[in-house]
Amino acid sequence: SFAACGQKQSAYKVAMEPTFPPFDTTDSKTGELTGFDVDMMEAIAADQGFKLEWTNLSFGGLIPALQSGNIDIIASGMNASEDRRKQVDFSDTYYDSGLVVAVKAGNKTIKGIKDLTPDMKVGGQIGTTGADKCNELKKAGKIKEAKIYDGLDVAMMDLQNGTIDALINDLPVTKAYMTAKPGTVEIVGDVLNAESYGIAVKKGNKELLDKINTGMKHIKENGTFDKLYSKWFD
Ligand code: ARG
Repeated sequence: SFAACGQKQSAYKVAMEPTFPPFDTTDSKTGELTGFDVDMMEAIAADQGFKLEWTNLSFGGLIPALQSGNIDIIASGMNASEDRRKQVDFSDTYYDSGLVVAVKAGNKTIKGIKDLTPDMKVGGQIGTTGADKCNELKKAGKIKEAKIYDGLDVAMMDLQNGTIDALINDLPVTKAYMTAKPGTVEIVGDVLNAESYGIAVKKGNKELLDKINTGMKHIKENGTFDKLYSKWFD
């Protein structure tokens, strides 16, 4: 029909915080948003026949942006926690993770979370469960300061230059940093908790959530998910 002529297919707005490789990052050459979350969401969108428009936000700004309707989807390595489930709806989870303590490579005094002392500064990223853990340690008088960062790139640099004594961040992301930049930081002690990442939509947006879950199921069945997993994690 005439009305359909040149009509643009509507796109969902999807956001992530891009200092969290290999899930959420920027391409070093093009500057474009990329990572496992981008590839997975694009595969889901292709399977379900919708388009995506990507933006980046501070991690702490993601849930407010979803609630206000500025964005439709969060794809940002977000733990589908009980707390967050009160504020947004999550898809089926797609990656099991957990928090770890990282120190500067060669640090001999901190071998785990129990070695943190009231003279120490510990970093975490704003709005994350890692930041929650830092704030909890500070409140309990176990550390001197919880230093909350916008980006994990800066937090990783501060860990290496001694601005902070430890960083609490997700295992796969800290592990990827150690692989990309050997001899800079290291993980100490056990994994602190169990997290599972999910895609978030506004509370009650069942239509979109159903599409995401169906698409995710399809790309898991047809091998696309595994292919993307190997691309980013092997
Ligand atoms: N596990 C954390 C959380 O969900 C960190 C996620 C950070 N993601 C990011 N793209 N920076 O709270």
